Amino acid sequence: MRLILAYSGGLDTSVMVRWLSERGYEVITYTADVGQGEELDQIPQKAKAAGAKEAIVEDLKEEFANDFCLPTLRALALYEGKYPLSASLSRPLIAKRLVHYAKELDAKAVAHGSTGKGNDQVRFELSVWALNPSLEVIAPFREWEFRSREEEVEYAMRFKIPVKATKEKPYSIDKNLWGISIECGPIEDISKEPPEDAFEITKPIEKTPQEPTYIELEFLEGKPIKLNSEALSLSELISRLNSIAGEHGFGRIDIIESRLVGIKSREVYEAPGALVLYEAYRDLLSTVLDRYSFHYLLSHISHEYAKIVYEGLWFSPLREALDAFCNSLAKRVTGKVRLKLQKGSLRVVGRESPYSLYSEELATYSPMDSFDHKDGGAFCRVFGLPMKLLGKTRC
Ligand code: ARG
Repeated sequence: MRLILAYSGGLDTSVMVRWLSERGYEVITYTADVGQGEELDQIPQKAKAAGAKEAIVEDLKEEFANDFCLPTLRALALYEGKYPLSASLSRPLIAKRLVHYAKELDAKAVAHGSTGKGNDQVRFELSVWALNPSLEVIAPFREWEFRSREEEVEYAMRFKIPVKATKEKPYSIDKNLWGISIECGPIEDISKEPPEDAFEITKPIEKTPQEPTYIELEFLEGKPIKLNSEALSLSELISRLNSIAGEHGFGRIDIIESRLVGIKSREVYEAPGALVLYEAYRDLLSTVLDRYSFHYLLSHISHEYAKIVYEGLWFSPLREALDAFCNSLAKRVTGKVRLKLQKGSLRVVGRESPYSLYSEELATYSPMDSFDHKDGGAFCRVFGLPMKLLGKTRC
């Protein structure tokens, strides 16, 4: 039977190619470039050396940025208030492509390299079934006999599957354009600061420049289109922000996260580009939206959206409906935001928009003030009426 395996090129999924072949599957590997920053040229060769019949590699950076990261930004969705959902967003896109190729190549099953105690298995499987409920999904990690990395290496050697000779870091890393997630190893001691070698794209504060860097982001109808006046594709813009903000040590997150399967896990992330965009987008929204729309987004949409994405429900009608809400608000998000990066901090220092609701004439305390202060008295009397009634009956 033919099967499509989501393949990263690492030890686990390489061993899976062989393991699945031994169980009678004809394995075709699928690898997506979602901005993990690795050379994917060697992937087909590696996959075939492990026993794959064919290897598909495609560049999905732009689709990932526009169709997955951007809607999440528009919802200002952060899981548990902190995590911009980088790993959670790539799984539904990869699943969508697995389903596509399963149909095109007449495969009846797909497989992924996620473990049985993480969130990624849920995201893969729910996404696959939402798009094709008849596909079988296989997760070798949940079934196979290997209990350690060493056992996998030994198996790889036995079947001449190429493994990197270099000593791997003790972390489990998932990387894409929207962020890097770092788990395992010394990070599992939640009382200790993560070692510096866990981080890849953010500098430690001691090594960041003294001088600040100012950046200007331009948005058009809710989409970031320019960085410092230069028009860029969204994936290019995110990757530039990753390096500029990472250079200033901005974008590290350390969180005790509530996993779907009930476990609390310590997760460390680097997401400089995503977090710069959240800050800028939020600022522009606060400038162009009336308070009811803005508060509704913050209190009802952001949390819900993050939960849906985190829990693998990307392909759900609720996510699409929430997108419609956010896209409607996004129409007003046109303008520029200036930000200042220095020593691990990020501050918005200026903004402008043709849809700005800010009126200096109304806000000022200078003689230019056009607000009629007498109105304030009437407003307080009417708005304060319930308090007066309560006050009279206070017990
Ligand atoms: N805890 C994060 C999430 O659930 C990151 C998962 C990263 N996956 C990995 N295989 N290391 O989205």
